[in-house]
Amino acid sequence: MQLSPSKRSQVAPFHVMEMFNAASALQAEGRSIVHLSLGQPGFPPPRAALERVSHAALEDPMGYTNAPGMPQLRQRLAQYYQETSGLTIAPERIFVTVGSSAAYILSLLVAFDAGAKIAMAAPHYPASPNMLRALDMEPVIMPATRESFFHPTVEMLEALPEKPDGLLVASPSNPTGTVIPELQLSELTIYCQQHGIRLISDEIYHNITYGGIKAKTALGMSEETIVLNSFSKYYRLPGWRLGWCVLPPELLRPAECLLQNMYISPPTISQYAALSALDETADLNQVVAAYDRNRVRLCETLNRIGLTNYPEPDGAFYIYVDLAGHGEDSEAFCHRMLDEAGVCSVPGIDFDTVNGHRFVRFSYCSREEDVIEACERLERWMG
Ligand SMILES: Cc1ncc(COP(=O)(O)O)c(C=O)c1O
Repeated sequence: MQLSPSKRSQVAPFHVMEMFNAASALQAEGRSIVHLSLGQPGFPPPRAALERVSHAALEDPMGYTNAPGMPQLRQRLAQYYQETSGLTIAPERIFVTVGSSAAYILSLLVAFDAGAKIAMAAPHYPASPNMLRALDMEPVIMPATRESFFHPTVEMLEALPEKPDGLLVASPSNPTGTVIPELQLSELTIYCQQHGIRLISDEIYHNITYGGIKAKTALGMSEETIVLNSFSKYYRLPGWRLGWCVLPPELLRPAECLLQNMYISPPTISQYAALSALDETADLNQVVAAYDRNRVRLCETLNRIGLTNYPEPDGAFYIYVDLAGHGEDSEAFCHRMLDEAGVCSVPGIDFDTVNGHRFVRFSYCSREEDVIEACERLERWMG
């Protein structure tokens, strides 16, 4: 008898991988390809973090830690909120996880039951609706435009046929790079409080913002909100698989039990790296300054080659360009750009299954020399 995979495992793959495979095939033929596709920092982790790790590896037997993470790291993250936002957060509310991806799974499992409806704006991080589906929950996608900075609004929630159980906000956004204005976030928080909707705020691109803009944490706005964060982006430790979430008091004990059963503990060695990376503000901000130069350069190039329809990227390291008026599907455009210019970017269908075929996401977290090369190629190609 033929056994089949579960229905819940039938989630969409990342289309970005198809671009990647196409790029790798060209590279195998000897072609030079420059990537404006990845969402992973092109800079190594802060050196001091690596030095501390080598030291810790010799000193500590690297056993399991507590399920929610090392006490000193949870304490240090509480201090982070004090330093960056003036908020006093009890370390017991902070759970260190295997990337923010595990913080997502933990938060969804601890806050919602199967069948829960979770609203989010499109475009969105592709894994968000897919994780929900795999957990037998239902994403409720609300199309967003430049008017709302591609983020949800109270009006969008009010227009839904049914009140959702949860709302997901991710700011700065992947793929648009837009930061949700503070007023829009606080209006959403109040609406969620009044209507019994659990708000989840994905803050994994916090601290990567430009031009004096600061993304404000939703933590200070309500104790019921769940906040997700990561060491993968600002702290440049993507492969160390470490993130965290801040949970409301009523979810702490069930979350701890879930973590003990699902993961035992987050990776010990990565927690040492994280502890050290949290102190490397000067080094971290130097790389944000490099992203900013990349951002300015890429925006100038896109404007010169006539790709001008995108929201001002305030943060993260993405530009989400609307190709409307160019008369080409974004997947075809990306393949043509890869073939003819040797520049790899990502079509929008991963982020928005309805309108994504009009959009292309350019990422600029690569090293500056790569972004310069990509810009020169784009100008030669379309200029
Ligand atoms: C918006 C957003 N949330 C969450 C994640 C998951 O990242 P990680 O598990 O590395 O923390 C990503 C990864 O790119 C992302 O873009």
